[in-house]
Amino acid sequence: MNLSIFGLGYVGTVIAGCFAKAGHRVLGVDTEQTKVDLINSGRSPIIEAEIEDVLRDAVANGSLRASTDAKAAVMETELSLLCVGTPSQPSGELELTYVRRVCEDIGAALRKKTSRHVVVVRSTVLPGTIESIVIPALESSSGKKFDRDFGVVMNPEFMRESTAVRDFYAPPKTVIGSTNAADGALVAKLYDGLPGPMIHTGIRVAEMVKYCDNIFHALKITFGNEVGMLSKALGVDAHEVMRIFCQDTKLNLSPAYLKPGFAYGGSCLPKDLRAMTWAARSRDVEIPMLANITTSNDAQIKNAVRLITADRRKRIGVLGFAFKGGTDDLRESPVVTVVETLLGKGCELRLFDPHVNTARLVGANRRYIEQHIPHLARLMVESAAAAVQDTDIVLLGNINDTYLPALKTLTAEQRVIDLTSSGRTPETAAHYERLCG
Ligand SMILES: NC(=O)c1ccc[n+]([C@@H]2O[C@H](COP(=O)([O-])OP(=O)(O)OC[C@H]3O[C@@H](n4cnc5c(N)ncnc54)[C@H](O)[C@@H]3O)[C@@H](O)[C@H]2O)c1
Repeated sequence: MNLSIFGLGYVGTVIAGCFAKAGHRVLGVDTEQTKVDLINSGRSPIIEAEIEDVLRDAVANGSLRASTDAKAAVMETELSLLCVGTPSQPSGELELTYVRRVCEDIGAALRKKTSRHVVVVRSTVLPGTIESIVIPALESSSGKKFDRDFGVVMNPEFMRESTAVRDFYAPPKTVIGSTNAADGALVAKLYDGLPGPMIHTGIRVAEMVKYCDNIFHALKITFGNEVGMLSKALGVDAHEVMRIFCQDTKLNLSPAYLKPGFAYGGSCLPKDLRAMTWAARSRDVEIPMLANITTSNDAQIKNAVRLITADRRKRIGVLGFAFKGGTDDLRESPVVTVVETLLGKGCELRLFDPHVNTARLVGANRRYIEQHIPHLARLMVESAAAAVQDTDIVLLGNINDTYLPALKTLTAEQRVIDLTSSGRTPETAAHYERLCG
């Protein structure tokens, strides 16, 4: 294909060289003449392993050249890949000046172009940016209509500096966000033969995925560092700890615990976090991320209460209130905390959980109820149907197939608020909303 690549920085230079090497005809565009001159002389404007050879060969065989002429680049190519910078402003807000300007440059060229053109955004932009900035800027500068006259696809870049060329040939995944299947397929063709999953999705999801990845990577680094600091203070070999930790691909390095849902609870996670943060505090070790997990978890409980009480309707049926489905353990169940808060706000509650039967509760679990929610038994009913009858809101605290028939009986006047992380939308006429996602 004929590709124009806007922005010859770390991303643009690498993909310009690699796409040219893969057999595409690539025209790189940058506003900085020095970068353009460097590329045209077969040299790299960035320090990056292996890129010098790739660029030298591509320029020598005529598959890559660079220019400052945006208009000519659009006219001569079918696809324009945007790789301009999206730095932070002092407030943290994204600086979108470069994105806007490059869209205006491309749009001005599109005014005269008769064939279809697809703009592929590779810069990292917040969800909604393509809809609110990129498409309007292209439409107003071109006088043309998105989708009918030109396409826009979000194709985030996952390469890492220092291994960027190798990452190009072995991406962790390729994500293509589009509203037009043909445009998405055209962009996917660029990656023919490369390993890793090819994922087609919507534009906003593609914008978000890139942030989700980077935030998770930052979180992993911070987790490793804080565990390292704690281990050192406790006289433990942190590298040995993390080496063992990483061998657990069932619960640790896996999709487990990563579905958006509700706060954690139970008899282990809250207690063990408290013990570790105490251990750090008592040794003057700062672990702000780990120490604030509880704050975030508490915020999630407050978010749930806020959502439930938003429209001041007071009759609430709760389906599932053990700390997770499939157990009768109520200790530190966040749903129980929500129930208590709602009771305090004067709500009428009816609770059902197929696994919780007060007559059968014994030991620590029974003690927990006696100390924390002695009035729980009075609120419990015998079936899901009885819990949802004559309610304004049905709160799904955990998921169980026995709730499904009761959910089917709800009417459009009722609300279902789902705190679970199942991702399943139950069949119901009620207004259905997840706390998360
Ligand atoms: N650097 C990385 O490892 C990496 C990885 C993945 C994603 N990203 C994202 O990719 C984007 C680009 O990052 P980068 O590190 O390559 O940025 P960079 O600052 O190195 O390069 C941006 C280039 O765009 C050029 N430019 C600005 N306005 C232009 C215009 N109107 N027309 C043509 N060129 C223009 C600049 O002169 C510069 O050369 C950012 O959104 C970044 O977050 C970066």
